[in-house]
Amino acid sequence: MFFDNVNEAPKDPILGLTDEFNKDKNPNKVNLAVGVYQDDNGLTTTFKSVIQAEKILLDMNIPKSYKPIDGDKEFLSKSIEMVLGEKILDNNQSYPIALNTPGGTGALKLASEFLNIFSSKSTVWFSNPTWPNHKPIFEASGFKTNGYEYFDKEKNIVAFENMIASIKKIPAGDIILLHGCCHNPTGCDLSDDQWEEISSVIKNNDIITICDFAYQGLGDGIDEDASGVRILSEKLDDVFICSSYSKNFGLYSERVGCLIYKSKDEIKSEKILSQLKKTARTIYSNPPAHGSEIVKIILNDEYLKKLWIKDLSILRNRIKEMRVSLLSNLTDLGCKKDFSFIVDQNGMFSFSGISTEDVKKLRSEYSIYIVDSGRVNIAGITSKNINYISESINKVI
Ligand code: LMR
Repeated sequence: MFFDNVNEAPKDPILGLTDEFNKDKNPNKVNLAVGVYQDDNGLTTTFKSVIQAEKILLDMNIPKSYKPIDGDKEFLSKSIEMVLGEKILDNNQSYPIALNTPGGTGALKLASEFLNIFSSKSTVWFSNPTWPNHKPIFEASGFKTNGYEYFDKEKNIVAFENMIASIKKIPAGDIILLHGCCHNPTGCDLSDDQWEEISSVIKNNDIITICDFAYQGLGDGIDEDASGVRILSEKLDDVFICSSYSKNFGLYSERVGCLIYKSKDEIKSEKILSQLKKTARTIYSNPPAHGSEIVKIILNDEYLKKLWIKDLSILRNRIKEMRVSLLSNLTDLGCKKDFSFIVDQNGMFSFSGISTEDVKKLRSEYSIYIVDSGRVNIAGITSKNINYISESINKVI
């Protein structure tokens, strides 16, 4: 007999809540846990630009043979341009390489497996708090993990002085994971000056950098949100960027992501690409194609690209409107907690400061699902459920 001693694994802190939500019979139930955008009718509809690209793709009748291990060349160069800026490919001081990965998580896993081959003794440092899947991804590759200070809970801002002080203590050769924009879970990002300062500390201390960049375009805009990533990649000799098309193209289930590595040495970049391909081959062999073909069609077509930028701005603006409405509702209700920070946070999430105990009450008494840490997906709030959500929050806290 085998496997008799296998215990049940704990539920995933984010996706596990969607399972619970789906079973909940309360007609007023609201899922504010998983980072998926919903429109004002509570639906995750496909972007107009994606629907049009999908029709074009169907007519193209592309063979379903394997993609190269690193993915489609044109998709990769468009991805590099989108993340690092259009001028990057003309810059002969910079040699970015990229691999199309199954989602942003695939990019993180590929980076983690690669780094564990070439730098297995390093500890990986995450912001405190961070996305709950970061630690498990890197620990499953064999790394030790630790945290650097990031968030000031009292003031609801980045605790920048403490962050710098704790990054300065990271030993040379260790690995730091930064969030490129729309920090998950806090929604609090770094200014350009702060990115400059962080880059200098990382460079002086010889730390290996990975930047998780899953929300480009959800904060202030495609180029605006890439500002930190571009500062990092300009300042540092080596940087890994894990980007995702789940949120900014709404291609969640298609699993489209990209791992970009950039160095100032062309030969080194090519060697690293060859090793990353070898590693990818052992995890997923080669990437799925449907989603990346859609992205390629959109980014290569002027009309579709404009339509996509509009699609994305509708989404971003609705999230910002919901932040304002939630704050004004809570204020009108005379809520005893000051939630004014909600309107200053960036991207889909708000780290609400609601205690785990109150999160559980919201779930059991009102069927409002938010992550135990108090992270609220603002993109799940609509003009129809906002009163229910505000009143329920006001009652429990
Ligand atoms: C989230 O943080 O909710 C999203 O990134 C979805 C996920 O995979 O956890």
